[in-house]
Amino acid sequence: MTQRRRILVTSALPYANGPLHLGHILEAIQTDIWVRFQKLRGHECYYVCADDTHGTPIMLKAQSEGISAEQLIAQINVEHQRDFKDMLIGMDNFGSTHSAENRQFCDRMYLMHRDAGYIDRRMVRQAYDESAKMFLPDRYVKGTCPVCATPDQYGDSCENCGSTYTPADLKNPLSAVSGTIPVWRESEHYFFKLSAFEQPLLNWVRNGGVQESVARKLDEWFSQGLRDWDISRDAPYFGFEIPDAPLKYFYVWFDAPIGYLASFAQLCERSDLKFEEFFNADSTAELHHFIGKDILYFHTLFWPAVLQAAAMRRPTSVHAHGFLTINGQKMSKSRGTFITARRYLQNFPSEYLRYYFAAKLGSGIDDMDMNLDEFTTRLNSEIVGKLVNIASRCAGFITKNSAGRLAGNLEDQGLFDAFVAAGENIAQAYERRDMASAVRDIMALADRANQYVDSRKPWMLAKDAAKLPQVQLVCTQGLNLFRILMIYLQPVLPQMAARAASFLQESSWEWRDAAKPLLASSIHPYEPLAVRLDPKAVQNLIEPETAAASAALPTGAARSAAATGTVHAGASSATTLAATSVEGNLISIDDFSRIDLRVAKILSAELIAGADKLLKLRVDLGELGHREIFAGIRAAYDPVSLVGRLVVVVANLEPRKMRFGTSQGMMLAAGPGGKDIFALSADSGATPGMRVK
Ligand code: 2FM
Ligand code: ZN
Repeated sequence: MTQRRRILVTSALPYANGPLHLGHILEAIQTDIWVRFQKLRGHECYYVCADDTHGTPIMLKAQSEGISAEQLIAQINVEHQRDFKDMLIGMDNFGSTHSAENRQFCDRMYLMHRDAGYIDRRMVRQAYDESAKMFLPDRYVKGTCPVCATPDQYGDSCENCGSTYTPADLKNPLSAVSGTIPVWRESEHYFFKLSAFEQPLLNWVRNGGVQESVARKLDEWFSQGLRDWDISRDAPYFGFEIPDAPLKYFYVWFDAPIGYLASFAQLCERSDLKFEEFFNADSTAELHHFIGKDILYFHTLFWPAVLQAAAMRRPTSVHAHGFLTINGQKMSKSRGTFITARRYLQNFPSEYLRYYFAAKLGSGIDDMDMNLDEFTTRLNSEIVGKLVNIASRCAGFITKNSAGRLAGNLEDQGLFDAFVAAGENIAQAYERRDMASAVRDIMALADRANQYVDSRKPWMLAKDAAKLPQVQLVCTQGLNLFRILMIYLQPVLPQMAARAASFLQESSWEWRDAAKPLLASSIHPYEPLAVRLDPKAVQNLIEPETAAASAALPTGAARSAAATGTVHAGASSATTLAATSVEGNLISIDDFSRIDLRVAKILSAELIAGADKLLKLRVDLGELGHREIFAGIRAAYDPVSLVGRLVVVVANLEPRKMRFGTSQGMMLAAGPGGKDIFALSADSGATPGMRVK
């Protein structure tokens, strides 16, 4: 018997500023399968996670919604927990980085860093927004790329040419918070001396801390030299104030991984687990982090160093996975393929997704594509057609002809033994997170089980009363093979496995139960464990197309939208708007020609305290000057992303007084509403003030 391991596992903490989407769920499912596998093998294994609650985006989002950051993160925490639970993610604790425990750990670890000489203070020059009275994170400064001159780029890198730089390098920089031109100010920052950990980090990486492909990436970073890390931010900032530095806050990426510890500490508080046994420098427990490949730097360089500098153990391993694409493309709100966990759950059982992801998850960092047609086909052919089919073909005969009792011995012991023997390879595949290989092996066994039933033809035997004992033997064999497969699949399909166990009148399974046949016992009548998916239903996962959804927009909705400065036009041109959505109230072509449609350039886009639908835009209309416009597109656009865009505006609309000011025009947008409103954009060859024909 192998030794009982003690294992603590985490998945990355989701930001508390939006719903979970299938990308988050892919990671949670991968982690959860691994954790359930360890538990099934009899190891002591815990899975903790939390919301990542601090930082500028969360602070600004709360402001724009007119609520406190605490209120925002409390609401999101409820939603995230519900989504994880409904996806059958069996976390032992789900906390928050905004917790008393996390504050204590941050303070304590920082003070240890400081006292050990690992904190440096240096002056930093940074963009400052005088109207919003705040320092601007790099992505909140936008301007023209200093290398290729593409306008409207973030302050850290150019989407067009890929160069990286600092906001100070941008030409014509603007604050994405207020749209004003930032000034440059100095402020003292606190740096963690990452450079002091180069050798220990190299050793950690070489001793199996990361996957092969990741080690190669890290070599690149090591060869560039490790730079010290700025762990402080100036007020206003939603986070924890640094203990010896008033008005300086820990940077969100400092306190986020510490949130793993805080969440585990909460679990320790309500159980008899001892935190120190997992985190002392000489701990023999294992610590595994599952993350996306985009946050490797934080987890493979900063994090082990931060732990070591606080005299704590380092992770056993960091396991990175690739990104999720949908039908071959990046998830996209405008294409409707930004699939939230909730949207999925409203349409399909969580276990179908768990199975599909498992069947495609390797142990590397390749991206995974979720193809919706393939999703349906695999579910129908593998789960319904193969796996569940074994039980549904055998159970009826046992119930009907053998009073629900299994035979006292197996018909084909050799086949049973082969299924048991295959378990070791399957276990090894789970262990190395090669879920796809585990599922492949299990499905190959399912094929063999079906071939077995086909070859014995119990439905033929059952026609002859003298052969009923033979039918019982065959079906007992079939159900035992099914049972082994369900035990192997339990990490992936925990609910279906629990239902299968109860159908076989067993309370629960451990991995080693697979080796013991179930004989001379009673079973319950079979009830379907899975049903076929309608290939058409899968299309419900994609949000309806903008044009189709808005064709039915009632007049009232168009009017109320107009009041907030946005028209939800139905189709591709503003002309169609007049014909479709204002039915019964037609305007003539002359009326229409009186509408002065112009190209406008968005100079700034601001959140408005107390308004959760509106953004305040400042636009350049060329010869007509600058205007202020209120647009009901808050849910659809991050203000940062709007600055510099060319949009279509009704320039001769009578100014409208609104609660937050006067709207001096109307920006045209289309869509069903909420997150799905799309600004009508002019192409980048247009200039502000140009008439739209
Ligand atoms: O990238 C992200 O989504 C971060 N919220 C992950 C944090 S993981 C850990 F460090 F807390
Ligand atoms: Zn560029």
